[in-house]
Amino acid sequence: MIRGKKVTITGGAGFIGSSLARRLVDDNEVVILDNLHRDALSNTDLIKHPNLKLIRGDVLDMDTVRRAVDGADIVVHMAAIAGVDTVMHMPVKTMMVALQGTINCLQAASEQKNLQRFVDFSTSEVFGRYAYNVTEGDVSSLGAVGEARWTYAVSKLATEHLALSFYKQYGLPAVSIRPFNIYGPHQVGEGAIHHFIVRALKGEDLLVHNDGSQIRSWCYIDDIVNGVLLAMEKEQAVGEAFNIGNPRSTLTIYNLAREVTRLSSSASRIKFVKWDFADVDLRIPNIDKARALLTFEPMVDLEEGLLRTIHWYRSQVHNG
Ligand SMILES: NC(=O)c1ccc[n+]([C@@H]2O[C@H](COP(=O)([O-])OP(=O)(O)OC[C@H]3O[C@@H](n4cnc5c(N)ncnc54)[C@H](O)[C@@H]3O)[C@@H](O)[C@H]2O)c1
Repeated sequence: MIRGKKVTITGGAGFIGSSLARRLVDDNEVVILDNLHRDALSNTDLIKHPNLKLIRGDVLDMDTVRRAVDGADIVVHMAAIAGVDTVMHMPVKTMMVALQGTINCLQAASEQKNLQRFVDFSTSEVFGRYAYNVTEGDVSSLGAVGEARWTYAVSKLATEHLALSFYKQYGLPAVSIRPFNIYGPHQVGEGAIHHFIVRALKGEDLLVHNDGSQIRSWCYIDDIVNGVLLAMEKEQAVGEAFNIGNPRSTLTIYNLAREVTRLSSSASRIKFVKWDFADVDLRIPNIDKARALLTFEPMVDLEEGLLRTIHWYRSQVHNG
């Protein structure tokens, strides 16, 4: 249990960050630094919590980062341009935020006397197009230069090198997390499950890229939040990188679209659209390292997670 700490979460207004904040805020002081490029926070009760402070600002601004990190026991750095479509529209910004933003956060964190943990957010994209049962020690694969999608993976991989180098060179207690396709309530950005559920509930066509044979493992939000909490607590996490995902919940994108329509009793049709950009054909994590060092175990299987998520999106529609 993490109690009585000051926890700074960059990107904390986003999907994963706001979910983590929700879990911490009753027992800790939570400071969120976010420029509200995405916002899963402002329209919720969480923003009114007395233990939560939102600093609206940019991780590219060092003075703001220093103010947000000042006095922190734990820094969780997840501010990023996320989502393939947004990344492809903003490759320069993607790299700036990942590279300069992470350097700023690491620098400011290393100036704190009491810092117990720095959690860096990387991505499963570092494994490239084919990633079956991949372990943290496997070689990363960064795709062709010139494909905008890979600007995200290459700069996120650099954040891992940066975080773990701050550990090796300066003793900063850093850990990196590689999330594998997270879904669940409060997702405000992109992602196939977000797209499918929103459209299924409106009765609109579900758009599947190419033939829908791309394979992904889906991890429910509560499970990754548990993984991050373990990475914040466990001594063995320091200086390591971890895959966090749910290899049991693996299926093709076409079957995912079918599951969403079935579980939401939607009359939507599945429409195949041509997509000419770089894609990931196969991505399934090996999570043995997180199991062994963090005691991490995903608990929510896909059907249960989808039902909970559909329920949440429905409640949002009804609340206007
Ligand atoms: N959701 C996933 O499946 C997934 C998979 C792999 C990696 N990740 C990583 O996990 C982290 C959280 O992802 P998420 O799904 O919650 O995404 P998100 O887009 O919901 O959250 C990211 C947050 O960062 C903020 N942000 C962006 N640029 C900023 C800047 N310059 N200064 C301050 N704040 C800024 C956004 O406003 C947003 O609130 C990200 O680092 C992302 O790259 C997520």
